[in-house]
Amino acid sequence: MSTTHEAGWAHASGALRGPAWLSPPRDPNALVPQLWSTTAHKRDGDLVVGGVAVADLVAEHMTPAYVLDEVDFRSRARAFRDGFADYDVYYAAKAFLCTAVARWVAEEGLHLDVCSDGELSVALRAGVDPARIEYHGNNKTYPELRRAVVTGVRRIVVDSATEIERLAQITADLGTRQGVMIRVTAGVEAHTHEYIATAHEDQKFGFSITSGDAFEAVRRVQEAPGLELLGLHSHIGSQIFDSSGFEVAARRVLRLHARVSDELGVDMPEMDLGGGFGIAYTTQDDPADPAQLAIEMTKIVEDECRGLGITRPRLSIEPGRAIVGPSVCTVYTVGTVKPVTLDGGAVRTYVSVDGGMSDNIRTALYDADYSCTLAARASDAEPVLSRVVGKHCEAGDIVVRDEFLPGDVAPGDLLAVPGTGAYCRSMASNYNHALRPPVIAVRDGEARILLRRETEDDLLATDVGA
Ligand code: LLP
Repeated sequence: MSTTHEAGWAHASGALRGPAWLSPPRDPNALVPQLWSTTAHKRDGDLVVGGVAVADLVAEHMTPAYVLDEVDFRSRARAFRDGFADYDVYYAAKAFLCTAVARWVAEEGLHLDVCSDGELSVALRAGVDPARIEYHGNNKTYPELRRAVVTGVRRIVVDSATEIERLAQITADLGTRQGVMIRVTAGVEAHTHEYIATAHEDQKFGFSITSGDAFEAVRRVQEAPGLELLGLHSHIGSQIFDSSGFEVAARRVLRLHARVSDELGVDMPEMDLGGGFGIAYTTQDDPADPAQLAIEMTKIVEDECRGLGITRPRLSIEPGRAIVGPSVCTVYTVGTVKPVTLDGGAVRTYVSVDGGMSDNIRTALYDADYSCTLAARASDAEPVLSRVVGKHCEAGDIVVRDEFLPGDVAPGDLLAVPGTGAYCRSMASNYNHALRPPVIAVRDGEARILLRRETEDDLLATDVGA
């Protein structure tokens, strides 16, 4: 916060104007289409998703609830599959995974990226072919790696020298071979400022290209008879909107790829460019469509390959958020509405809902912006700048920092927040012993529980009471 005030930033003059990008809606009863899943629309004030009126869904399943638009999910998965037609598309399970979703991913012809034993278990339970699974993580234990190898996971992305040793040992013990990618850090901000570049490299993932660690990792993998070096892997970050970051990263990774070919005589068949494609949480965000991204990324890679005189490796990507993020909205019930008068007399309307940072930690953790709408009635009341907050014992328990809601918003109203498919249920917690909400799929007028609501028994089950 740049504004200061003796009573804190929230009291500083101008704090109530709301962010510059947010203006009162022309029609508060209409949805902003780009923030919502494709089947979502309003019908006389009722939010309808997948042909199901959210009010009807709530009458049966209560709130809070994540509502997953199956048609939307599948069409986004297909848009990546078709847009990136000559790539392998690995859906990043960390964004959100349950058995049904793992099946949808497989049915739509995508591969799956898991980064933990738990995600692998869900994938296997869903019947995903291990030959289409890739395994990530910066601290995979010996038993985890062994399980992945025994299971027949197609690619393991190694992230440290220790892991290479573990895998060499495991494959030797089992008398098998394992496909391996090497996670590298490309230092993508090096072209802006040296200090930022150093900061970027100063994180836990991958082998640095600049320091030579990545080349050394390649040598070590090559030396292990049980490891089959498939290629290099680079993931530059998340919620990214243009291809310039990919461009710098891809160039550096391809140069390393070419160096490996020149100096070690090894032609790695694959290369992974990671995930990170951004979505629209609010009107500030303007994501490109997958086909356009594919054209840009492919051109970058092909130009560089031509310059380096190398054959283009088979490319893969790992979108998570861009597939599941927009497919889900979270539905809450308003519990209290509290006008809070700040210095200078301005009023901020605090709308408390029956969930919060336990079902969506992103606002508190990343300062993320969200939007919301009344889900079960129309209103022609004047819109007021509101802050949607949860029911947890923390002032930072904010769901939607700034949004205009009709001034007659009241206890009992249903509120829906779009764009909550990625990193909300998957990062949900039992903070304050909250019960994690269900994930309910909607499609063609039918609702189906994919993950049920937690119960008090679930909560108490791990408390042995000794
Ligand atoms: N591949 C790798 C190696 C990753 O680390 C990630 C995300 C992805 C793919 C998928 O990225 P996506 O396409 O979903 O942006 N919890 C944060 C995001 C953390 C992302 C971690 N890695 C959030 O809520 O914004």
